[in-house]
Amino acid sequence: MSELKSSPLLDQAALSSLLGQSLLLTQDWSTEDLATVRMLARKLADLDRKGIRTPLCPNELAWAVFFDASTRTKSAWAGAASRLGMQPVIVDGSSTQVSHGETAAETGAMLGMNAHAMGIRHDLILGEGNSFIRDLKSGIDSYLDSTEDIRKVPIVNLQCDIDHPTQSMADLLWLEDNFDDLNQKNITVSWAYSPSYAKPLSVPQGLITLLTRTGANITLAHPPGYQLMEETMTAAASNAEASGGSFRVTNDMDDAFADAHVVYPKSWGAYDLMLERVDANAAGNSDEMAAIEKRALERNAEHTDWICDERRMGLTNEGTALYMHCLPADIGDEVSPGVMDLHKVNVAKEANWKVYVVMALLAGAKVPDLAAKLASLEEEA
Ligand code: CP
Repeated sequence: MSELKSSPLLDQAALSSLLGQSLLLTQDWSTEDLATVRMLARKLADLDRKGIRTPLCPNELAWAVFFDASTRTKSAWAGAASRLGMQPVIVDGSSTQVSHGETAAETGAMLGMNAHAMGIRHDLILGEGNSFIRDLKSGIDSYLDSTEDIRKVPIVNLQCDIDHPTQSMADLLWLEDNFDDLNQKNITVSWAYSPSYAKPLSVPQGLITLLTRTGANITLAHPPGYQLMEETMTAAASNAEASGGSFRVTNDMDDAFADAHVVYPKSWGAYDLMLERVDANAAGNSDEMAAIEKRALERNAEHTDWICDERRMGLTNEGTALYMHCLPADIGDEVSPGVMDLHKVNVAKEANWKVYVVMALLAGAKVPDLAAKLASLEEEA
């Protein structure tokens, strides 16, 4: 396994294709553009680690609105914006007028009026998050069009109900650090037991849709009833076919771990209960939401044996699979303390890629002649 590949040469023609782009789902993007973002993220990480500053968007405002808790992604947004010379502002979504019924499009127009980039996390309710982000984007775009404002205001999905693209891109960079070629590698994305809360489906959905583009053999494992959104399953199957990899589903965690080169065990909520939340949330029925959450945890508790422990790691390829997690992990439930202890630096390095993914998305969307500008910053330094 290799780590930290050498700094890549940037291809301006490829970079130009990122100009003006927003990332709402990796599935909307070409494989080439996603590879360009990773190449740019690698370059920005290399410069940052050498102490070379990259204030490519000075004095610009980078808004992020979070309708759910976050540690890593908030920090990655702030870190990315400040490294680019932007001013990051992070707002709790419940403190905005959205909580009083202001629409996403209206909110977009208001925030986009003076912002230069926007990040949104809206991941709790199936069918809502990605639509909210799309409506917000249309609000910003129509404001900019109608005022002939030349600003580019890229939108970055910082986790919705369907996808968590900055996470899956960070995960893929970490995988590329560890494997020269992912073609035909066996990668397992598995449900794991959690007593803490019914977690969104977007991390496993983001993983199966992105990693099936690499030529790897992707196994999705979960107990019956923990299926993912149909559209992401269909996309994963068709991506796997196009990339020459494979995609399969099993209800047996041991089977999923057998001969895996990589395991990514994490929890998510039971599908029928995640659907039940939609109506309870729309009705603003907080008692019903709490009752559904209680039932979700009781359902999870029927599967406490779905843990990534030493025995299961022993089933993997030569017993040495790379353990991955988006964090935070429920230690003692999703993963044994021993397995986490062994991999704690690895998962931190995995998480650290997110700051450079966000930087690459913002700089790629906003800065023309990026290759020349980065070369000149490097030369000056
Ligand atoms: N993995 C991840 O998105 O972490 P946060 O929820 O802390 O942002």
